[in-house]
Amino acid sequence: METLDTVLTRRSVSRLSDPAPDDAQLLALVKAAMTAPDHGRLLPWRLVTLRGEERAELGARLAACSADDPHARERAAAKPLRAPLLVAIVFAPVAHPTIPRWEQLAATAAAIQTLSLLLHDRGYASIWRTGAVTHDHGVRALHRLRPDEQLLGWLYTGTAVSLPRPRRLPDPRARVRTLTQLAASGAQVEVCC
Ligand SMILES: Cc1cc2nc3c(=O)[nH]c(=O)nc-3n(C[C@H](O)[C@H](O)[C@H](O)COP(=O)(O)O)c2cc1C
Repeated sequence: METLDTVLTRRSVSRLSDPAPDDAQLLALVKAAMTAPDHGRLLPWRLVTLRGEERAELGARLAACSADDPHARERAAAKPLRAPLLVAIVFAPVAHPTIPRWEQLAATAAAIQTLSLLLHDRGYASIWRTGAVTHDHGVRALHRLRPDEQLLGWLYTGTAVSLPRPRRLPDPRARVRTLTQLAASGAQVEVCC
């Protein structure tokens, strides 16, 4: 796909089925995603893949942290089964004298967006899902998180059951101003010192 087409047609897809990329295909895409900008090349993230029965293990943990109602538990247990492959995104910040945590988080998000674009380019689809469950002790333990690591959610991955239309995008001129336009607009200035 042409690069601009890949970017313009990527959508988050909720309904995903087989096939998902196999381990070798996924590793090749993860390697390519390592080209994302990353101050100091710290690679402050790691990924955990869940397929087949591994997804049911996560489902059991999600059920354990849901409300004490059998239907809610059933719904929670089924959540990880919504895609053939889940890629857990673990933020693993590195203690560094000059590169702050926020830059490392930005580098991680850049890598995941690159991965989702590459998946789309190869005919797969994905959606990044998060939620309060990412902070649950049992869910963290399942992914073997260290105390300094943070679970950022899962990239649910597979093949789109149906392809959503490209998103209608707002006018970019509302987001971009030249410095001269800003000065002329009399926009509020933060008072310093
Ligand atoms: C950090 C992050 C967390 C997200 N968490 C969820 C989520 O928990 N549930 C969900 O349905 N979508 C989630 N999304 C996907 C967004 O909702 C989706 O990107 C947005 O609706 C725009 O859709 P699009 O990607 O098709 O343009 C998340 C996206 C990001 C970047």
